[in-house]
Amino acid sequence: MPVQRVISSETAGGEEDRANLALRPRRLEDCVGQTQVIDQLKIAITAAKGRREPLEHILLDGPPGLGKTTLAHVIANEMGVGERLRITSGPAIAKTADLMSTLTNLEEGDILFIDEVHRLSKIVEEFLYPAMEDFRVDFTLEGGVGGRTVSFRLKRFTLIGATTRAGMLTAAMRDRFGLRYHFDFYTTADLREILRRSAKMLELKADDGALGLLSERARGTPRVANRLLRRTRDYAQVCGDGKLTAAIVEKALEVQRIDRLGLDELDRAFLAALVNVYNGGPAGIEAIAATMGQERDTLEDMVEPFLLQMGFVTRTRQGRCATRAAYEHMGVAPPVREAGGAEASLF
Ligand SMILES: Nc1ncnc2c1ncn2[C@@H]1O[C@H](COP(=O)(O)OP(=O)(O)OP(=O)(O)O)[C@@H](O)[C@H]1O
Ligand SMILES: [Mg+2]
Repeated sequence: MPVQRVISSETAGGEEDRANLALRPRRLEDCVGQTQVIDQLKIAITAAKGRREPLEHILLDGPPGLGKTTLAHVIANEMGVGERLRITSGPAIAKTADLMSTLTNLEEGDILFIDEVHRLSKIVEEFLYPAMEDFRVDFTLEGGVGGRTVSFRLKRFTLIGATTRAGMLTAAMRDRFGLRYHFDFYTTADLREILRRSAKMLELKADDGALGLLSERARGTPRVANRLLRRTRDYAQVCGDGKLTAAIVEKALEVQRIDRLGLDELDRAFLAALVNVYNGGPAGIEAIAATMGQERDTLEDMVEPFLLQMGFVTRTRQGRCATRAAYEHMGVAPPVREAGGAEASLF
């Protein structure tokens, strides 16, 4: 059976998000980290409000769980339209008619959030272009010779698009977003702050050692941090006295099979496939996915970004390669490469 991600994308939309909802920051001032994004956004919001204009369309990109959806809510709150935020996603919009009713119901300044914006169909995407650019939708009336194209004016709204794959967006789509922000993994200091806030909201007693350890094992990701915090809470409640200490966190993470760098079984399975089956690579992502019995998308979205960030994996034209650090982490002796060989630079 393939290894299941402890922090899977499926749970992200369901149980995970419900549990996290209360932990989400609601205003810009509550957002920890991503200061580059937040600072630029503050200026854009203040300027737009000063002009009494809607914000330009915003594209948020970055790995899962870093707060793109959260930020869309925060932006809507800051613009005073939080109650009216409309939320949909690329795959959910099957026909232009679905989008038509949403768009025509938007009021001036309303915000439409489209998650997974890279997964819009081509027809829907092209239907969106004039809506984004000129606040207009064009549709063809059935019947008559050749049909007649009618334009419908929309109120000036803001589209916020989120994607884990900016590279999969068409250039035409990307260019229609006036404001584009990239999310990076959080520092452990930021994660500690997020965890401290979450612990307070959950009325948990957690000492600095516990929060520090959790922040180091959270893969730079607030969603993971909050999830590990809840799992540690469970463990402390059942196997301890409810208090979170470094010792309790260690044990709770051991049960979850999270290693000292925060890698879980899926991450290690990826490295193991690359190191043991493909001799360190280069190996194509499809081949690795097949070996692991996983979807390529899961690996590209949920596993690779952090391994790249950690310097465990590199992407080359020929495929993915394991670095010396990956071998060391897996406790496997790296192969002896011939000097000047193609992959020599990795070691
Ligand atoms: N800046 C932050 N400060 C505190 N908590 C945060 C922050 N950003 C995100 N979180 C927490 O992390 C969780 C995940 O964030 P969110 O769902 O917005 O991620 P996402 O980028 O939309 O992920 P996905 O790509 O999977 O949709 C939130 O529920 C929230 O609790
Ligand atoms: Mg999201």
